[in-house]
Amino acid sequence: CRVALLCGGKSNEREISLASGEGAREALETAGFPVEMIDPADKGDLKRLIDEPFDVAFLCLHGKYGEDGTMQGFLDLIDLPYTCSGVWSSALAMDKAKAKVFYERENIPTPPSMTVMKGQQVDAQAVIDAMGEKVVVKPGTEGSAIGVFIVEGAEAIEEALAKAFKIDNEVLIERYIKGREYTIAVVGNQNPEALPIIEIVPKSDFYDFESKYAVGGSQHICPADLPEDIAARMRQEAVKAHKALSCSGTSRSDFILEDNGTCWVLETNTIPGMTKTSLLPDAARAAGMSFPELCTKLIECALE
Ligand code: DAL
Ligand code: MG
Repeated sequence: CRVALLCGGKSNEREISLASGEGAREALETAGFPVEMIDPADKGDLKRLIDEPFDVAFLCLHGKYGEDGTMQGFLDLIDLPYTCSGVWSSALAMDKAKAKVFYERENIPTPPSMTVMKGQQVDAQAVIDAMGEKVVVKPGTEGSAIGVFIVEGAEAIEEALAKAFKIDNEVLIERYIKGREYTIAVVGNQNPEALPIIEIVPKSDFYDFESKYAVGGSQHICPADLPEDIAARMRQEAVKAHKALSCSGTSRSDFILEDNGTCWVLETNTIPGMTKTSLLPDAARAAGMSFPELCTKLIECALE
């Protein structure tokens, strides 16, 4: 089974994607797969996907033009099976505001939010009246917490909006939920199962870009120390989120557990990070599945 390992690309998460690609390459080679690295930012590499006899594409692309359905559409056109979710599901999950509509359809709690388009006049006081004094401002379609700001008060909201609009034309203002951060990966196609829960303890005030990728920037506790009934409910919510967005292969949903017990889903990542220290491989290891075994499972799902 000849694997085209796709990483790099032209999103803001390119560097993370390259690191994911390195992690996955080592794991795939350990599992015995012949692997060729392909960078979709390179047209020559894209042509290789068409011309060479690959059996499957293993996607380690994060963000725009990779995780958002564009690459998936290209691979559908050339009949090359690929890991993770299909076109529609990838596009939906990438769009945080639209994904919320589908969580809500399934009664999965997600923080209330409002969407603002570039050029639209925003009355910061009206935002505060609707969402509360403290809010989260984030680009509508980004990953790795790029351009995410937790701010308080009208002036700070306006500043955060201006910064977020440098990254995206659509920005989400979300109610700030105070609580502990968790992430739950799900693996499988027909009967997806949740892996052990990871609690993320960031060194800064939230799991921002620095704490995600700097060495020692955050601490992962896996399995998370949670009462069994709460853990079971949260894992069920992760599977529901995966199904609500029609994901396949794998997904990883991020949660905040509020002090009052409400478990809020923030977003679902359809191509979770795969660096050696990333959350998905960590959760798989806690379930007794090595990184090479996880990669093999994702390929099996792709070829199912
Ligand atoms: N978007 C990053 C890679 C993640 O969710 O793991
Ligand atoms: Mg994300």
